[in-house]
Formats: sequence, structure tokens, C-alpha cells
Amino acid sequence: MSNNKVQIFDTTLRDGEQVPGCKLNTEQKLIIAERLDLLGVDVVEAGFPVSSPGDFSSVTEIARIVKNATVCGLTRAVENDIKVAAEALVHAKRPRIHTGIGTSESHIKYKFNSTQEKVIERGVAAVKYAKSFVEDVEFYAEDAGRTDNEFLARVCEAMIKAGATVLNIPDTTGYCLPEEYGAKIKYLKENVKGIDNVIISCHCHNDLGLATANSIAGAIYGARQIECTINGIGERAGNTALEEVVMIMNQHPYLDLNTNINTKLLYDTSRMVSEKMGMAVQPNKAIVGANAFAHSSGIHQDGVIKNRETYEIIDPAEVGVTESAIVLTARSGRAALAYRAKKIGYELTKLQLDDVYKEFLNFADKKKEVVDEDIHQIMKNINVTAAI
Ligand code: KIV
Ligand code: ZN
Repeated sequence: MSNNKVQIFDTTLRDGEQVPGCKLNTEQKLIIAERLDLLGVDVVEAGFPVSSPGDFSSVTEIARIVKNATVCGLTRAVENDIKVAAEALVHAKRPRIHTGIGTSESHIKYKFNSTQEKVIERGVAAVKYAKSFVEDVEFYAEDAGRTDNEFLARVCEAMIKAGATVLNIPDTTGYCLPEEYGAKIKYLKENVKGIDNVIISCHCHNDLGLATANSIAGAIYGARQIECTINGIGERAGNTALEEVVMIMNQHPYLDLNTNINTKLLYDTSRMVSEKMGMAVQPNKAIVGANAFAHSSGIHQDGVIKNRETYEIIDPAEVGVTESAIVLTARSGRAALAYRAKKIGYELTKLQLDDVYKEFLNFADKKKEVVDEDIHQIMKNINVTAAI
């Protein structure tokens, strides 16, 4: 594997599905899992098998049908969770067990009423037990974002010794700043024995809107796996959005980080997940929102019509969007109106355009958006006929 390849670990079906109201049935999960495999993700986190019989059978079925990606099941550092996950993954071509425990002061004190040493012991036992079923074992240090770096380094070293192949450093509460999260990964890279033999994974939540920035900071400092979801769905404010981290790496080649993702499938995949989960994508969502490639102010429209690159850093075709949209509103200028009119059959002279534009503004002031039907009406009102 190239040292610059960042593995994409998709947790839409596990962390993403924890969103209230987004429950999927097995059939829907299978369709999404197949799509994720086609998209080129490296790991599909299929679920939390011990959590319910339904989740167990979804993970089992997903493990059977995924052809290329590793299929992963989540567990707590609990023997029965691990045994059940191993059973669910038995048909996977590349099975991974994802086990772990909270490592921050508040998790140790309030969740476990325990001590740092006991938490390490439980983690080590879980990794060793998982290792008796599968070769590929990922360990998560839950709430690593708020865990003291020195202790986190000790945890990581113990898990590597126990056989972990991937170390997940979750910012579970979305608390870290990008510099802080990047520095955490750098600290682990520099202070944990054996760290270069395992993959460090970023798992960031979006409580402060920093999940994407934190994941990229982690990758810059040496993490080689990013855990994310389609449309950034997930607990509370969500997880890192897959489409965002992938396109950031894509758009900034000097970072020298790359992924296996077929970016041309991003838009369709986003719509598929949104539809199956009944969760709309916010219009201004980066990369896949309805307005991500829509231009409505006159100044921007004029620029984009002359050359797309004036106001677009991504070619929409790169992410599977057919073309940029020029949305006609009262803020639009003549260039946008002429452009849209031409698309639907009206080649206007300069003089005609002046008249049409006046009538257009009368319409536009009364409507949020002027659509093609309105343009036909405008032409009718001032007796302009289609020229082509
Ligand atoms: O946010 C988190 O810490 C998690 C772990 C269970 C990996 O989702
Ligand atoms: Zn999470």
C-alpha cells in the first residue's frame, strides 16, 4: 500500500444509522453496502452485531455480499460482543472486529468507575480475544479527543503489543481544534513504540463543525484511515462527511494524500442514502448539496458563464453532477438571462434582451426563482418567438 493512500472507512451503516429516525431495514442496508463497495471505500462498518438480532443479521448479510471492502463489526470491550461480532462476520472475505473502550478521565470515572490501569487491561483482553477470531483488529480509544496524550500513548502501545492492526483515535464529542487533533496524532507517531506498523485512524464528530478539518489535520500528521459517513450523518451533529474529506484530498494535490474513491459516484450515493434514510441533504451542504454548484447572483453568474473556474473550484462532473446551475432570481443580470433563454430556444439580439430583461425583473421581484416556464411567459408577453 502506498504510504500516501488514506483508507476510507465508511460508518454510514453504524454511526450514521444511530441518528434518530434513520433506522434502515436489512434490504436497505444491503443496497447501501453494495453501493459503498462500488464507490471504492476500503472498509464498510456494517453495524454493532450484539445490539439487536436485526443488526446481527444485517451484518451477516452484508459480510456475504461485499466483494472488495473489508467488512467491520463494532463491539465494546466485552467478550460476548466480540464473539457475536465474529459470528456475524464469518462469511466476510476480509473481516475486521472494531473493539475498544473509553479512555478519557470522564469516561473512566463516570462510565466505568474504574482506573487507567484497569481500562488498559480491559482493552488488551478485548484485542487479544478479538485476535483469536480474526487477524484484522481495530481498537478505538473512545473520547481520545479529551484523553491526556501521555496516557493515550500508553494505551496505544499496549494495544499494538496485544495485536491491534488499526488504532482509532476518536474525537467522540467533537471537541478538538484541528491543530490540537493534528498534534495528538503527531504525538502518537513520535511517542508510541511500534506505531509505524499499524494504521492510525481518525474518527471525528461534528459538534463544533470541525469534523472534516480535524480528520484532514490527522491525515496531514500521519493518520492513514479516515472514518466518515455519506452526507456526514451521525450522532448529534454528525460524523466527518466522506464526500468532503475525499474532495479535499482530491483538490489539494500538494497534500500528497489519495484515496480509492470513484468521485463520480458521490452525488448519486449521497442522494441514495438521503432517500433511504429519509434524511434530506441541506441545500448548502458542501459537494453534494442542491446549491453546491448553483449560482444566483448576477456577478457570479456572469463570471461562471465566461469561465466556470471563476467561481467553481470543482468541476461538477467530477462528483457526478451533470452541470452547474444558473438560477434566475431578481439578483441575476442580463448575461444569465440570455444564457438561460438560449438554452430553451431564444437567441436574443441586444435590443430584445433589454426589453426581455425589464419584463424579467417584473417577474423576478414577485418570485423566489424564475423558471423556464416563466421565461416562455415573459417572451409571450413581449412577443418574442423562439429562434431555434
Ligand atoms: O465516536 C466514537 O467514539 C465511536 C466509537 C465507538 C468508535 O463511534
Ligand atoms: Zn462515533
